[in-house]
Amino acid sequence: MSAADGPVAPSAPAGAALGATADADHVRIVEVGPRDGLQNERVFVSTQTKVAFVQALVAAGLRDVEVSSFVHPKAVPQVADAEAVFAALPRSEGVRYSALVPNLRGLERALACELDEIAVFTGSTDSFVGKNIRMTIAESLERFAPVVPGAVDAGLTVRGYVSTAFGCPYEGAVEPQQGIRVAERLFAMGCREISIGDTIGVATPGAVTRWLDAAEGRLPFDRLAMHFHDTRGTALANVMVALERGIRVFDSCAGGLGGCPYAPGASGNLATEDLVYALHGTGLETGVDLDALVLASRVIAGELDHGLPGRYFQAARVNAAVELLRPH
Ligand code: HMG
Ligand code: MG
Repeated sequence: MSAADGPVAPSAPAGAALGATADADHVRIVEVGPRDGLQNERVFVSTQTKVAFVQALVAAGLRDVEVSSFVHPKAVPQVADAEAVFAALPRSEGVRYSALVPNLRGLERALACELDEIAVFTGSTDSFVGKNIRMTIAESLERFAPVVPGAVDAGLTVRGYVSTAFGCPYEGAVEPQQGIRVAERLFAMGCREISIGDTIGVATPGAVTRWLDAAEGRLPFDRLAMHFHDTRGTALANVMVALERGIRVFDSCAGGLGGCPYAPGASGNLATEDLVYALHGTGLETGVDLDALVLASRVIAGELDHGLPGRYFQAARVNAAVELLRPH
């Protein structure tokens, strides 16, 4: 029995729970652990460990990995080694390696590295965007206007993030229209996919339903991803609601790490292990091997000053301990 073995989720016939078509049985997971997962950590994780972490995630079957950020090193010291990480990272065929880019300076830095995608990031509220990237939403969109085509001309794809879609640490409740308008602008600019961010983990299944109701007919659901932080334990329930509405791309962090340094109260992202476990048990496939994913989380767990919050990860540890204690 491997360390990651745990209770096996009862399997449903492929797509049965969702009334899905064959194509709709696949969920693409965008692993943001090396970026969102680490950006708020107190302990600086060495470049070597970051590289090993990304490699272990790829070995687990993840095909979209957000590796780092080309932001100001003083704004997020944990990603100050972005260039070094990309320089040391062996690439695997069929994997999309990406990084956050806030402006032209960030794009310049990204283009000097070998990567497949950049992600521009803004939000639904001026207060958060102001604290995070020191500009208004409108200014951020102006700032991205040359960044997106610049990346596309260089052969990269571009993802967009719309943060604080469900709530803002500075403004409170946020109307769906606020984020939808920003997502429309990002699509018009040339982003291939937009990730809708619940930055501080306040979304509920009801709020996700209301958001998607408002977005229906305005945003293409087959090009939307959802990015849930699990601060209040609702992330998986939110995913299930989004799946019912046809969303098939979710962002998550191995081990449940994560949080934005400029969003007070933000805690870990939905743990990739918990997401994969729930999806597989629902009859959906992800291409991710859970045992190997737990091993990837272990690569990073050893370097931090606290345990990983992911539930499946913790259960896997307990199962491993029980197995060790069992008489052989
Ligand atoms: P600024 O100070 O307004 O920048 O920061 P500026 O354009 O005025 O330039 C000031 C100096 O910074 C200049 O240097 C620039 O060259 C330099 P100087 O001439 O004075 O020597 N500079 C840079 N250096 C390196 N890389 C760059 C860069 N840009 C300017 N890219 C800035 C604006 C956006 C740069 C800064 O606020 C920043 O880096 N913010 C990043 C914040 C961040 O990374 N937050 C976390 C990620 S977002 C998130 O977690 C949410 C998400 O997960 C989704 C969700 O959960 O909702 C994505
Ligand atoms: Mg985030």
